[in-house]
Amino acid sequence: MSVKDSVLEFLENNKGTALSGEEIAKNIGVSRNSVWKAIKVLKESGYRIDAVTNKGYTLVTNNDILSPQSIEKYLDDKYNVLVYPTVDSTNNEAKKLAAKGSAEGTVVVSEEQTAGKGRLGRRFESPKKTGIYMSILLRPKFSAEESLFITTSAAVAVAKSIEKVSGKETKIKWVNDIYIDEKKICGILTEASINFESGGLEYAVVGIGINVKLPEGGFPSEIAHIAGAVYDYECGDDVRSRIIASVINTFFELYKKLPQKDYIEEYRKRSLLTGREVEFTAFDKENSGIVIDIDDEARLLVRLKDGTVHAFSTGEVTLKKSFLKS
Ligand code: BTN
Repeated sequence: MSVKDSVLEFLENNKGTALSGEEIAKNIGVSRNSVWKAIKVLKESGYRIDAVTNKGYTLVTNNDILSPQSIEKYLDDKYNVLVYPTVDSTNNEAKKLAAKGSAEGTVVVSEEQTAGKGRLGRRFESPKKTGIYMSILLRPKFSAEESLFITTSAAVAVAKSIEKVSGKETKIKWVNDIYIDEKKICGILTEASINFESGGLEYAVVGIGINVKLPEGGFPSEIAHIAGAVYDYECGDDVRSRIIASVINTFFELYKKLPQKDYIEEYRKRSLLTGREVEFTAFDKENSGIVIDIDDEARLLVRLKDGTVHAFSTGEVTLKKSFLKS
């Protein structure tokens, strides 16, 4: 680790506390002059570090710059967290790393995406500073069928993490959108590479996009009626780092026991669609019915107009407009 990264790690771990140059130098085993130089570089890259005579340096608490150090201090385990200022898509970046042999547990995070990808070929708006754009690289050992549960378990991990950090109630709109107060605040896009010989997955990349704060000027008009954010404009210190770390911690907890599918209960509890009338396309036909539950295979159970109940595992489900705030 470079001196700059070590200094940043020490400051992040003691955020808000004044630390003398000597104390920092001693702890990381470098000279005071190197500490001074590292602090200068950190300040130049945007960190607010106050220096008070006779007290020392303080990384002020309302700094909101993502770095491996700002995230790692909240992680329960060791992961390889990479943070970029900008990328086209964190999923693309994670796939490149996967092709080069990076290990499971590599996590790519970016402050912004210039070509964020949504499901069904859509674009995912990814402005600077207000969101979380992250992709987790996995090398699943279980079968391709069991791997289908990666995305739904990620939805549970995100919903639980946002609730833990923000205290706000989250809902999951089948299959994998997270809602707060009837507005979508998170989408998940999982991409995978199949190993044709084994029939299993070479790797999977779980891409998670969370609107943490409202972007300046609001969302583009095409999505303004449906998109929301966890917070309006202001939120507490380190919120993005805390949510990212909690998503990683919670996701891997669920992932370890994925084939048991214990997480489905949590998914079911948060289902936004249960009890609601939905319109959807299935087998090329427009249809509608009442959602009665989510089954153990994470399929949507819908009672159709003729009274029959169907389990849907694919097909886009669209909420009737009357359920959305305009
Ligand atoms: C959707 O709602 O349709 C899914 C959106 C997924 C967005 C995330 S942001 C991080 C990762 N990188 C991408 O390009 N997409 C996913």
